Amino acid sequence: MLEEVLTGLQKPQKALSSKFFYDERGSELFEQITRLKEYYLTRTEYKIMQDHIGEITSAIGSESVIVEPGSGSSKKVRLLLDHLPEVSAYIPVEISEEYLTDVVNELRREYPDLLIKPVCADYTKPFQLPEIDKAFEYYVVFYPGSTIGNFRPAEAQDFLKLLSDFMVPGGGLLIGVDLKKDSTILEAAYNDSKGVTAAFNKNMLVRLNRELDADFDLEQFDHQAFYNEKKGRIEMHLVSVQNQTVHISGKSIPFKKGETIHTENSYKYSPDDFKMLVSDWFEVEKIWTDDDDLFSLQYLIKQ
Ligand code: TRP
Repeated sequence: MLEEVLTGLQKPQKALSSKFFYDERGSELFEQITRLKEYYLTRTEYKIMQDHIGEITSAIGSESVIVEPGSGSSKKVRLLLDHLPEVSAYIPVEISEEYLTDVVNELRREYPDLLIKPVCADYTKPFQLPEIDKAFEYYVVFYPGSTIGNFRPAEAQDFLKLLSDFMVPGGGLLIGVDLKKDSTILEAAYNDSKGVTAAFNKNMLVRLNRELDADFDLEQFDHQAFYNEKKGRIEMHLVSVQNQTVHISGKSIPFKKGETIHTENSYKYSPDDFKMLVSDWFEVEKIWTDDDDLFSLQYLIKQ
């Protein structure tokens, strides 16, 4: 971690990987973000799922195996499982073993007839799927939350290829994709009035102070999030309020006033953009949206 952090902070545009957001406090703050009034993504996606659950589950098919990379609390998938009593198996893929074990124990209580085959892995690297000792039709990957938007397009394509590699033609990908829209709405979603997103962003520095013996002064960095129209993405940064030097495990990192650390991207796609992004591996079978066209849930089929 130290090496990765130092490398990132020595680049001309300083950057830290968004994976460092998610310590225990970070995960808690993220949970709060999903409930903010400005943060329309989570509730809109859930409403789309509720409103079209019949069509969605018939696209998935009753004898499929659902694979969920980055399953976390497995909250959204319950809506699918509740309406797919015959589904062949559920494979949550989650990097945090403790979290995975807890959630799977709870799911086994709630769905005693469901075959659950958890995989503890970093899903951005190739991983092995477990044996399913019964016949099933297709793998259907469930990837909600517009998490695909947190990859750069080329990395998103690497991930799409990785998914498509373990699927046979006909297999499915049910994916949440945040849509391009008025930048006022986008920017408000990442600059909430309660300052939760700011606390989430700055928590990365709290973590570096604790885990890497760094001395970031939290008062001397501001949260910044803006829509980069040209790149079609929300960018999150931490802005140095003044010229300053920060120390990390004995190494000095100078900051100019106004210089930023880039911490996250959240790409937004029009339906056409997204169709292009996936077209080497998947065909877009169906797009469900909300009444205001804020968010989309899409069903893709492997070619
Ligand atoms: N994928 C969601 C989004 O881009 C959730 C998310 C990931 C997020 N990283 C974030 C939300 C950082 C706020 C800040 O919006």
